[in-house]
Amino acid sequence: MAAQLLLVVCAVWLSSSSTAQPVTPEDLLVITAATEETDGFNRFMRTAKEFNYTIKVLGLGEDWRGGDVAKTVGGGQKVRWLKNEMQKHKDKHNTVILFVDSYDVILTSGPEELLLKFSRFKHRVVFSAEGFCWPDQRLAPKYPPVHSGKRYLNSGGFIGFAPEIFAVVEQWNHRDHDDDQLFYTRIYLDQEQRTKFNMTLDHKSRIFQNLNGAIEEVVLKFEKSRVRARNVAYDTLPVVIHGNGPTKLQLNYLGNYVPTAWTYERGCGICDDLLYLNDIPDEEMPLVHIAVFIEQPTPFLEEFLERLTTLNYPHTRLRLFIHNNVVYHEKHIELFWSRHRSLFLDARIVGPEENLRHDRARTMAVEACKSSITCDYYFSIDSDVALTNRDILRILIEENKSVIAPMLSRHGKLWSNFWGALSPEGFYSRSEDYIDIVQAKRVGLWNVPYVTQVYLIRGDILRTRLAHISLYEQEEIDPDMVFCRAVRDQGVFMFVSNRDEFGRLISTKNYNISRLYPDIWQIFDNPMDWREKYVHENYSQIFEEGETVVEQPCPDVYWFPIFSERMCDELVQTMEDFGMWSSGRHNDDRLAGGYENVPTVDIHMNQIQYEEEWLKFLKDYIVPVTEKLYPGYYPKAKAVMNFVVRYRPDEQPSLRPHHDSSTFTINIALNSKGKDYQGGGCRFLRYDCKIEAPRKGWSLMHPGRLTHYHEGLPTTEGTRYIMVSFVDP
Ligand SMILES: *[C@@H]1O[C@H](CO)[C@@H](O)[C@H](O)[C@H]1NC(C)=O
Ligand SMILES: *[C@@H]1O[C@H](CO)[C@@H](O)[C@H](O)[C@H]1NC(C)=O
Ligand SMILES: *[C@@H]1O[C@H](CO)[C@@H](O)[C@H](O)[C@H]1NC(C)=O
Ligand SMILES: *[C@@H]1O[C@H](CO)[C@@H](O)[C@H](O)[C@H]1NC(C)=O
Ligand SMILES: *[C@@H]1O[C@H](CO)[C@@H](O)[C@H](O)[C@H]1NC(C)=O
Repeated sequence: MAAQLLLVVCAVWLSSSSTAQPVTPEDLLVITAATEETDGFNRFMRTAKEFNYTIKVLGLGEDWRGGDVAKTVGGGQKVRWLKNEMQKHKDKHNTVILFVDSYDVILTSGPEELLLKFSRFKHRVVFSAEGFCWPDQRLAPKYPPVHSGKRYLNSGGFIGFAPEIFAVVEQWNHRDHDDDQLFYTRIYLDQEQRTKFNMTLDHKSRIFQNLNGAIEEVVLKFEKSRVRARNVAYDTLPVVIHGNGPTKLQLNYLGNYVPTAWTYERGCGICDDLLYLNDIPDEEMPLVHIAVFIEQPTPFLEEFLERLTTLNYPHTRLRLFIHNNVVYHEKHIELFWSRHRSLFLDARIVGPEENLRHDRARTMAVEACKSSITCDYYFSIDSDVALTNRDILRILIEENKSVIAPMLSRHGKLWSNFWGALSPEGFYSRSEDYIDIVQAKRVGLWNVPYVTQVYLIRGDILRTRLAHISLYEQEEIDPDMVFCRAVRDQGVFMFVSNRDEFGRLISTKNYNISRLYPDIWQIFDNPMDWREKYVHENYSQIFEEGETVVEQPCPDVYWFPIFSERMCDELVQTMEDFGMWSSGRHNDDRLAGGYENVPTVDIHMNQIQYEEEWLKFLKDYIVPVTEKLYPGYYPKAKAVMNFVVRYRPDEQPSLRPHHDSSTFTINIALNSKGKDYQGGGCRFLRYDCKIEAPRKGWSLMHPGRLTHYHEGLPTTEGTRYIMVSFVDP
């Protein structure tokens, strides 16, 4: 009983020619035309599959002779194929045919809804409508007037009973490159035929939404489990969305949401064609050509190169190409190569002496993959990309897209490696969802018009759809712009994924390579990389509950790890390289502050133009420690006395007892007792408490005035360096 009832509900009563018979989803046949399985075609098929449509594809494997429909008229070939196909269905009185294009079409709902909407038209044939009279504007006056809605016929989508559709297309006797839309338009405008075939147009997008000229009318309507495109001009929910004319990118945008491509989780979404690599033995893994481009001085390049060696991917299945256009970075490449050459079987490194232009270098690298049938993937990566996810290659390959980029942005910024939309001139434009994607409030795979800096291309796509075009080179245009346009023009989709965390982008804009260790200055521009390189690996343990890494060797004197070895060494070398150690001038500053005159041999941070950076360091790394260790005190983190002190037996071995002109002082050991010097340390007189074995990279922190009268103990051999800062004087 229940089953029967259901059947009646699902069936839609359409008045067929003689007796009224229900038309059920089984009576519906969707016909489309495609010569190639492009990304657009696959997207269409995915939506059709999602709603269980029965689809007949005409033309697959055939050569397209219908002209370039995007730019000019054409498309007659589609009508010829349809005419041919309809021979099989012409006598099926109860069969409903939906004909749609495929490359630029998505379906947003199922057969029941489609048939219900069709039945409400009470016509035998319904064509989609648009606001432009194309291809012959002179025909505009011949159209019947419409009260409201779009007036003109578009042949990208129509629905009707099989006998009438057959009768319409049977009249085709033109050439393949003649215009299909003109053909259907003429039939529609002939009043006799219009009546005979009982034709009408879908003026208000009840079934068909042509986007051309109607972008503003279409909005996304977010429901609980899915998203629907709504036409707000006519308050309708179209079933077929057609990105006709110049609206391909808008369709791509809608296609990110409709029907269910968008997910919050990894593991679903566009999951039907994931390619799993888990069970593949190393030697059978896809071969990936990695191409690295170092086109400008880039902070943290050593770390960038090291990451190439720690990818979770069999190195025997990687081929490496490096274009280094920067003389400054040659030493980094050499170091990298001397350490890791054995990892990479076959590598090509092109240095600055070869004077290879940026776009030429990109072409050279991509051609190597294109021309080698064994190259399964091409992975292009620029030096200003920090990929911290070691599984990146596997993840991107598994997504099985023609072109896919990991979503990356600058730390805490909206600057990313993709664009959500294009301006009419083809430049950046912010899409409505851009911020949500960058901030991972919406998670998924996103079909976007522009990706840059790092992406993976399938080798077979390079050798087929992208085979005959120049991907990077065009006079006066940046290679990334050339690339994205070329890929878009070939109908190849570019995706960006934020389903995983992949890393971040490096800012190269304030990189001063005249400095000895320019990365030390990067605390503002690249704070994450700075932290990884220069902050002690156990720093974060200071803030852990319970057992803490912080020690208290004397009353109210705290001791904790702060700098990495790297920071200590580079800071000392920077000071020695600068060389202007002095013990005169700065004492006066201290006197001027009204405090004691205790001369040290030192170099101040402002002398090496590091004051701002140092204050930033105090704010980001010392203030949190202070707030934890001296609860209730909120440091202003002001400091004018920030200096590296040098102690040695023949110069100044020690410092006599004194107070510091600070609320609290930090004192960081920059080298190692035993290895670099003997003696040294610090004594707090009031408590008669000594710290005789300072640890490199560890900081002492103690109150400056009143209680912590202290002295520097003599260095008896070698040279000892400490970094001192008087905080909140
Ligand atoms: C499509 O068909 C499958 C199995 O026949 C069914 O499980 C699924 O619910 C159907 N989907 C829709 C949207 O009707
Ligand atoms: C189309 O056919 C229906 C009946 O099937 C009829 O009511 C309607 O008037 C026809 N429309 C036109 C425009 O001929
Ligand atoms: C990968 O995607 C292509 C379409 O581009 C599809 O034909 C193929 O079946 C997919 N591979 C897997 C394993 O799903
Ligand atoms: C770059 O570094 C050099 C050497 O330290 C310094 O003299 C110069 O002022 C710096 N330039 C900028 C713009 O900071
Ligand atoms: C960090 O702490 C661990 C033990 O918690 C220790 O083994 C390691 O050596 C420490 N790292 C450094 C750089 O001192």
